[in-house]
Amino acid sequence: METQPLTPAPSKIILDCDPGHDDAVALLLAHGNPDIELLAVTTVVGNQSLEKVTRNALSVATIAGITGVPFAAGCDRPLVRTIETAPSIHGETGMDGPDQPESTIELDPRHAVDLIIETVMAHEPGTVTLVPTAGLTNIAMAARKEPRIVERVKEVVLMGGGYHVGNWSAVAEFNIIIDPEAAHIVFNEKWPVVMVGLDLTHQALATPEIVDRIAAIGTKPATFVMELMEFFTKTYKDAQGFDYPPVHDPCAVAYVIDPTVMTTRKVPVDIELQGRLTLGMTVADFRTPAPDECHTSVAVDLDHEKFWDLVTDAIVRIGEPDGGAPAATAAAVPAMAGAVTAGAVAGEAK
Ligand code: BDR
Ligand code: CA
Repeated sequence: METQPLTPAPSKIILDCDPGHDDAVALLLAHGNPDIELLAVTTVVGNQSLEKVTRNALSVATIAGITGVPFAAGCDRPLVRTIETAPSIHGETGMDGPDQPESTIELDPRHAVDLIIETVMAHEPGTVTLVPTAGLTNIAMAARKEPRIVERVKEVVLMGGGYHVGNWSAVAEFNIIIDPEAAHIVFNEKWPVVMVGLDLTHQALATPEIVDRIAAIGTKPATFVMELMEFFTKTYKDAQGFDYPPVHDPCAVAYVIDPTVMTTRKVPVDIELQGRLTLGMTVADFRTPAPDECHTSVAVDLDHEKFWDLVTDAIVRIGEPDGGAPAATAAAVPAMAGAVTAGAVAGEAK
């Protein structure tokens, strides 16, 4: 009889993103959490131009000391529509607020779509999870270019959509409405899709207490996140009337780390491509029972404390990648007593 390993292997993910303040936090969470193996990071036009979001991704990698992970740039425009970016939320650079270091990390020469395909095909079937936190252009292109990835991918855990609220129109969310045709492809392929949408991410608010906890870690990556959150707080207040900003994208990574961080419900979801008022709506059918062939589920309720513990713990683990002054201990960070200390784990992050 085969013996089971005591600790399960980390979950292998490809993060497809458009940094983006919340994408940056998603990347830090994926890098700093020991239960994630970050196989690749790919970028796609979204919050800003492809060039800007790719630069931002490499800056985050430099700040967090991410090495040995390929970063590749992907599609610079949606499949059908014209480019729509989000400077009202993310600023002109796509990640306004903190100073960004010039990155020393070299971009992988492959197109992101090829990197996604090659990475999925190089791993055992059912072992790689795709985590898109941006428009779905790269993922849709990959599914069309190499259809075998659809049955090979473990699941697609995406930040996007919402079943009762929109943010870029009354009923549509930004990542879906900027490339609804791509979203249509991704939601209609028969791989398992977990939609971590606005219903869930609007519960992931960076309250002042959370921002203080992160600031108290005292490292450069922590200060970077604090400054990102300061900018995000202001734009979410000015542009969307939020008291505290919803930090969407790390919610998808958190689900992969620990699905108990949220509840989900299996419901069919499809993408509206025709409606004059409803283009890009993620139409979720809550009638029961869900059909047996239903392969989509939606995130419903977030465990706010568990989520932010995961994020702060990852930042503590990342420590001071360039070997600077040691971070504050976790015990000094309110609500983290008992968690790992930065000193104990500095340099331990992948
Ligand atoms: C999503 O849109 C982007 O602006 C954010 O990075 C997030 O992925 C929220 O609607
Ligand atoms: Ca994003």
